[in-house]
Amino acid sequence: MNTIKIGGMITLMAAFTLISCHKMDHGNQTTARAVVEKSFSTPIAIPMVMDATNASFAAKTNTATIGGQSLKTLSYGNGGILGPTLKINQGDMMNLVFSNQLSEPTNIHWHGLEAPSSQDGYPTDLTQAGNSYTYNFRVTNRPGTYWYHPHPDMATASQAYRGLAGFYIVSSPEEQALKLPAGNFDVPLVIQDKRLTGGLEYNPDAEDQTIGFFGESILVNGTPGAVMDVEKRTYRFRLLNGSNARIYNFALSDGIKFKLIGSDGGLLDAPVDVSNILLAPGERADVLINFGSMPVSTELFMESASFSGSSSQGNQSFKVMKFKIIKDATDNFIVPSTLMAVEKISESSSVASRKFNIGHMMVHGGMEGVMHPIDGKTFDANRRDEVVKSGSVEIWEFDNTTGTEIHPMHLHGLQFQVLSRIGGRGSIQAWEKGWKDTVLAFPGEKVKIIVRFPNNTGKFVFHCHNLEHEDAGMMLNFEIQ
Ligand code: C2O
Ligand code: CU
Ligand code: CU
Repeated sequence: MNTIKIGGMITLMAAFTLISCHKMDHGNQTTARAVVEKSFSTPIAIPMVMDATNASFAAKTNTATIGGQSLKTLSYGNGGILGPTLKINQGDMMNLVFSNQLSEPTNIHWHGLEAPSSQDGYPTDLTQAGNSYTYNFRVTNRPGTYWYHPHPDMATASQAYRGLAGFYIVSSPEEQALKLPAGNFDVPLVIQDKRLTGGLEYNPDAEDQTIGFFGESILVNGTPGAVMDVEKRTYRFRLLNGSNARIYNFALSDGIKFKLIGSDGGLLDAPVDVSNILLAPGERADVLINFGSMPVSTELFMESASFSGSSSQGNQSFKVMKFKIIKDATDNFIVPSTLMAVEKISESSSVASRKFNIGHMMVHGGMEGVMHPIDGKTFDANRRDEVVKSGSVEIWEFDNTTGTEIHPMHLHGLQFQVLSRIGGRGSIQAWEKGWKDTVLAFPGEKVKIIVRFPNNTGKFVFHCHNLEHEDAGMMLNFEIQ
């Protein structure tokens, strides 16, 4: 095993920049905009489903009625602020004719999918306004919940925030044989915070660029104050944190337990009982909630419980959405004792390890504003930061020991496994077992992951999925050779 680099020189320069020209006191943390709860009375929207093997839609400017206001949004297709849920079977070819009817360049990134480099929405691979692009590749990922969103350099946050995002669900006969709740009982839920008072404008100031752009309103599937009528039975919910920067610590009211069955890269090997799941932007969790023992007309809430570890987030607990039990059901569903084998990548197969310091921030005056570097570097499409071999296994470490911000680190085009966490929470969480593509490092934490690089050669990015950090440079390249 050989250690490749720590970027000592560059890190020193970053530290110098921090001291010499900082304008804001980054040690004096500001906090996320507080959530204002709605009355939970608007029926939740469920995005339409589209077959990914034969799909087409456009990105366009639109208007949507959200929380009683008519707002200017961006949308995929004719929907409100969410694109259609693309569905495919593992092994099938995706075919999507995409046209850009926006007035700005855009592209689509398939978050979590093992896409070829040319199809992955590299930040400078753009479809210009008025043009089209066909996304066409074989989807090899395990059954699970993935998603898609734009990825243009320095405009991901702005475009995703204004409405461009959607679910991508992969299934397989093996998954179907488990007889998990399906159809109306398999419900994707994307949670996003928006500034509805701001008319959905994306206009971050220096503070937003530092800690993230937070909204006072929590939307589930584009619905603020969402309520979902449910039957007395078990449901599968696919939770996606599609927010720019906000972390949620999902829990049910009264501490009711539920079952975790999947994480970013699909089903776990077995279900786990949990009472909370902490998801950072980009992360997903598949869960089963059994309403079977609750009397008709019971109401319960999905909440975000308070949490510690970050000075800018977590001190507030708030309700996210309401479930209302409206009728009896006959439910013969039995939770399977095992789900789908998760092959463990062995540490001894690793041929290299790399460490990345994610604990620095640079604050400049003037045009440059706040920058968030990795190892002192900010994104440059023309640079090759890391070169790796297809098929090889490596251990990567994200070191936020000296940091003051949360950083959910995400690698494109693959799924990895979390090996260890030192400092902060000090251990791997239940929802971090199995396959992952995004892993959260709180200030004070050092997180190690193990990666087997796929056979898709070419250039990919890895970055912080706090979208303000990403757009402020917190993204580097890795090239698979
Ligand atoms: Cu959802 Cu580059 O990420
Ligand atoms: Cu991604
Ligand atoms: Cu970050």
